[in-house]
Amino acid sequence: MPPSAAYGAAAPIMVSFCAGTTGEWQVIRQSTWIGEPLPQAARLAVDAATPDASWTLTGFTSNLRYTTRAERQSLDARTAAIGRPEARMAALIPIRKSAVWWAMAQDDRRAIYERSGHTPIGRGYLPAIARRLHHSRDLGQPFDFLTWFEFAPDAEPAFEELLAQLRITPEWRYVEREVDIRLVRID
Ligand code: HEM
Repeated sequence: MPPSAAYGAAAPIMVSFCAGTTGEWQVIRQSTWIGEPLPQAARLAVDAATPDASWTLTGFTSNLRYTTRAERQSLDARTAAIGRPEARMAALIPIRKSAVWWAMAQDDRRAIYERSGHTPIGRGYLPAIARRLHHSRDLGQPFDFLTWFEFAPDAEPAFEELLAQLRITPEWRYVEREVDIRLVRID
């Protein structure tokens, strides 16, 4: 995958995350940061139908909403692809933002996003953390975003630090549901 695909510059793709007893990812930990939890499952299948799925979440990659050209260039220069063999750990973090967030105009949302330093904070963790953002609000799903991250085991502490930094930003005051599902690849 070319780096820019991580930011939706490529054609959109639909992705389903199915939790159950099959799939290439084993759930090692699941915690609810805020809001209603999701049922616990043993395994997660990405893009494979699982007959016994306890839940399925679907989203699609899309164009950028808040990223300037300069930011995109600086991200592209450091972005790692999804599916690196050494990235044996992953996190699926579904997120829903509040009605207040969605009622704001695009420029007001971008102002909060920018003030929060989301892009510069995140950039500091590239290329160790590979990411793909899926949108699901427009599909009428229970979450607005399905965020997906892949990293090697030795990058896990850095990933925790990244989460801690983002969760104290003004942007996160608008997060009303967030579940953090940690995974390890089986094979
Ligand atoms: C790994 C480093 C990260 C980088 C480089 C990064 C970068 C970005 C960028 C550039 C966008 C804006 C996309 C656009 O223009 O539409 C974005 C959006 C988003 N990111 Fe991150 N991010 C990172 C980590 C995270 C983490 C750890 C989370 C969740 C825990 C997260 C959650 C989100 C969400 C929910 C959005 C959508 C925001 C919205 O549209 O309201 N990001 N990220």
